[in-house]
Amino acid sequence: MKLLKYIANLGYGSRREVTAMLQQRRVRRRDGSILREGDGFSHDDVRIDDAPLDVAQGVVLMLHKPVGFVCSTTDASRLIYELLPGRFTARSPIIAPIGRLDRDTSGLLLLTDDGQVNHRVSSPKARRPKVYEATLASDVRADDVKIFASGTLMLDGESSALEAAILEIVDARHVRVTVTEGRYHQVRRMFAAVGNHVESLHRTSIGGHQLGDLAAGAWRALEPDEVARLLSSV
Ligand code: URA
Repeated sequence: MKLLKYIANLGYGSRREVTAMLQQRRVRRRDGSILREGDGFSHDDVRIDDAPLDVAQGVVLMLHKPVGFVCSTTDASRLIYELLPGRFTARSPIIAPIGRLDRDTSGLLLLTDDGQVNHRVSSPKARRPKVYEATLASDVRADDVKIFASGTLMLDGESSALEAAILEIVDARHVRVTVTEGRYHQVRRMFAAVGNHVESLHRTSIGGHQLGDLAAGAWRALEPDEVARLLSSV
């Protein structure tokens, strides 16, 4: 790909704006030599205003989504994109969430600009385990463990039963739930189906990839070996 298009696709500006950046000699190599349209280049060698380029295309990011942010590009509420560098919304292809977390749920959200990776991680067929920690309004019942594990639990308004899920009781009002599907508001509706109510919900891992100690609102790019492990997990 030519330099101008490459930089424009990373969200640095329109083609016209990037043309101006090149003319103004703001695009250089690491050694300070000026880059011109038509020159060969490698991502890591390019500097704009002396700064390295943003993360290259084909990236997977992890974000610690706080409560109150919506996984959308357009909504009246606060958007997850506010937590990422502003240029990221101008990238082509855009970095999109892999699955979603609802506004009131916090925790691990993966994002990518690679459609194939998105499909492979989020595909229901892959059955990648997603782990949530929930605080409940009423004490959890021991029976709920069996009901969640039964593979027969029906959610209101749905025509097929949920796959078996693992419910671990941390204490009377705190549980850990592992699900392999991604139905709309699934965990909240599972507890509604057994007469309880989720007061707070937090995702800690997807396909074995852990949120770890990433601070609320922070993000980072996954290393290639982390992406490979995520894709091979089931
Ligand atoms: N289940 C929910 O209820 N909400 C989420 O955001 C994810 C799983």
